[in-house]
Amino acid sequence: MREKLEALKREALDRISAAGDLNLVNEIRVMYLGKKGELTGILRGMGSLSPEERPVIGQLANEVRESIENGLNSKTAALKEAEKYEKLDRETIDVTLPGRTFNVGRRHPLTQVMNEIKEIFLGLGFEIADGPEVELDYYNFEALNFPADHPARDMQDSFYIGDGVLLRTHTSSVQPRVMEKKAPAIPVKAIGLGKVYRRDDDATHSPMFHQVEGFMIDKKISFSDLKGVLLIVFRQMFGEDRQIRLRPSFFPFTEPSAEVDVSCIICNGEGCRTCSNTGWLEILGAGMIHPNVLKMSGYDPEQVTGFAFGMGIERVVMLKYGIDDLRLYFDNDKRFLAQF
Ligand code: PHE
Repeated sequence: MREKLEALKREALDRISAAGDLNLVNEIRVMYLGKKGELTGILRGMGSLSPEERPVIGQLANEVRESIENGLNSKTAALKEAEKYEKLDRETIDVTLPGRTFNVGRRHPLTQVMNEIKEIFLGLGFEIADGPEVELDYYNFEALNFPADHPARDMQDSFYIGDGVLLRTHTSSVQPRVMEKKAPAIPVKAIGLGKVYRRDDDATHSPMFHQVEGFMIDKKISFSDLKGVLLIVFRQMFGEDRQIRLRPSFFPFTEPSAEVDVSCIICNGEGCRTCSNTGWLEILGAGMIHPNVLKMSGYDPEQVTGFAFGMGIERVVMLKYGIDDLRLYFDNDKRFLAQF
């Protein structure tokens, strides 16, 4: 029995030292130490030994088991270590290769400026309202005091989708939508931003562009409130020394109406190419909400008044960044977009 054990130990240790991978080491473990393994088999035969022999052989068997186990463990560790180095070898990084660049996206300049505008108005206590781009003729024209054959409709040469349905030509359609929902509650302070559509297409006009509409309805709202709000907004957008000026204008849904100019953000009013040497940039249309508009959407023009304004976003962004062709916004050329 003693010889058997010694032979078993030698054989096992030889196999272990020859084993070249972890699977083989595991197989050897099962072969010798497993439930049906060879060592276990020998130990089962111990019952036939004499009482004097038994402890001696038992001790030897334990030693054999221990040295096989040690052999297996150190082989496993060695193989694992070797594997690590092989892996490192395989993964060697060539530090002389140029790095991989990641394309990090960013917000479109129009979106950036719209977000800025939202922040400014939220700070002034306005809420952000919404309206559909596919709009009813009623909200785009009728409710804004453009009757069916009003000539002012021509200036917004429009995309009609069906009878009484069109792509909205301005964000002013948000006004009657909000009023209708809120009337007769006051105050109303809201802005609406988004896409609008007109049949125009050249370097300064695109068939789709963006506007922000703002309006406020309460008791005793006057032109000076309009001026005050716009002044605050332009100073936050373009710098603290902006001035504004109002010139008389016409819109069917405001009375009186005004074009609002801001002192040129490039030359600070001195006169330059951007402002055609006038010192002023024409930037939005505005006015006091027409009594008919208030009435149609459920407000009593004897009780409340309101102002409204509408501004093109593309133009603001062009001025802010000195962009000279509107079509750049929509070409989706990454070289252009990456600059903002
Ligand atoms: N909706 C007008 C336009 O698109 C702008 C405007 C809005 C004018 C609100 C007055 C009041 O040109």
